Amino acid sequence: MTPTPYATRRQQLAAQLGPHAVAIVPTAAVQPRNRDNEHPYRFDSYFYYLTGFTEPHAWLVLDGQGRSTLFCQPKDLAREIWDGYRLGPEAAPAALGVDQAFGVDALETELPKLLANQHAVWWPFATHPGLSQRVQTWLAAVRAQARSGIGCPQSQHDVCAVLDDMRLIKDDTERALMARAGRISAGAHRRAMQHCAQSLRAGQALHEYHLEAELLHEFRRHGAQAPAYPSIVAAGANACVLHYRADRAAVRPGDLVLIDAGCELDGYASDITRTFPANGRFNAAQRDVYQVVLAAQHAAVNATRPGARFDDVHQAALQVLCQGMLDLGLLSRTTHGNADAVMEQRAYTAYYMHRTSHWLGLDVHDVGAYTQAEANGDERRSRVLQPGMVLTIEPGLYSRPGSDAPEAFHDIGVRIEDDALVTANGCELLTRDVPVEVAAIEALMA
Ligand code: GLY
Ligand code: MN
Ligand code: MN
Repeated sequence: MTPTPYATRRQQLAAQLGPHAVAIVPTAAVQPRNRDNEHPYRFDSYFYYLTGFTEPHAWLVLDGQGRSTLFCQPKDLAREIWDGYRLGPEAAPAALGVDQAFGVDALETELPKLLANQHAVWWPFATHPGLSQRVQTWLAAVRAQARSGIGCPQSQHDVCAVLDDMRLIKDDTERALMARAGRISAGAHRRAMQHCAQSLRAGQALHEYHLEAELLHEFRRHGAQAPAYPSIVAAGANACVLHYRADRAAVRPGDLVLIDAGCELDGYASDITRTFPANGRFNAAQRDVYQVVLAAQHAAVNATRPGARFDDVHQAALQVLCQGMLDLGLLSRTTHGNADAVMEQRAYTAYYMHRTSHWLGLDVHDVGAYTQAEANGDERRSRVLQPGMVLTIEPGLYSRPGSDAPEAFHDIGVRIEDDALVTANGCELLTRDVPVEVAAIEALMA
């Protein structure tokens, strides 16, 4: 039988722990919302990466020989009538491929046994409140047996350091899931664009939340569990608020609409931004700004290939944006000179104040170091891209009143965001089932 991706990842992690070591990885806590109401449950990404198990109140313990122990909610038919099915520790080994399983109430008795005579313990630092204290309690229980000849681990390590590097390179299962998530999200953006133009043409009142509803409908229709992050649907000047949420503002025919939304499918995020004219036709100023951002994104996509550094993608976008700010008159040539000077002085931050990329995976701002130690010396530089990494490419330009921008450009906010998988010789965009060129957007909305 071929091992599941989770079993393969557990073996890859075990091989990096050392022979006399144990890793402890809990899933996420249930989060209260209000009174006796809870937030929709979302498992911990590290735990899920290693188990594929989505129930709360669960822990994975893995030793350096690759032996895995799962702690999970015990079967309880009375509770299951109210809260739903539980896998239970009896069924867990066959269902999840772990070597043994216990009820989560056995943690305090079993953990000291699993830690006995090991040299090192690994756990995720600074991720779960109270975890550090629990590990200390288990270590103390092992140490208390010293006179019986039981050895206690002498070192602790951050298991995130190993898992982050593993998660940075997506395996085949992850690539397939992320491609599917990208297609679903692209379909949702198409649906929202078309709904927008159709509603305005029909003379119907349209608000940001109507477009959010179209996105959600399309995510769920295709089996995606949830948005990967709160959807941004920003009409007109709201597009210049970077962390705006879909709210209740009216969408008007002359507006640009910025939608930054993506679904989470089986734990994996997608992250797409499109900016489009509400009535389906860009006006001249909107088109001019849009073309600059689009050219910046093309340049950044071309810079995304193995061997390039993470920061090269940002620099490629920035070069085009800075030139565009001068060409459009958003920045004055008299004051700032040329694009190199705009870069040097960071004058572009008046209109472009975020980075161009972040890692994407189980988390929308996924784990993985953005810098790496260089072979010769301890200097750290921007990370070299490798096949299997997934990053967003999301340049933007946000022009508010009060800047030096001519009035025609006031309150125009444009961002264009796609998800790129680094391939053997470049990158593949996972989210291009929604148009990005001006003519293609206008055609879709016509
Ligand atoms: N939607 C989150 C981001 O683009 O970073
Ligand atoms: Mn993003
Ligand atoms: Mn985004």
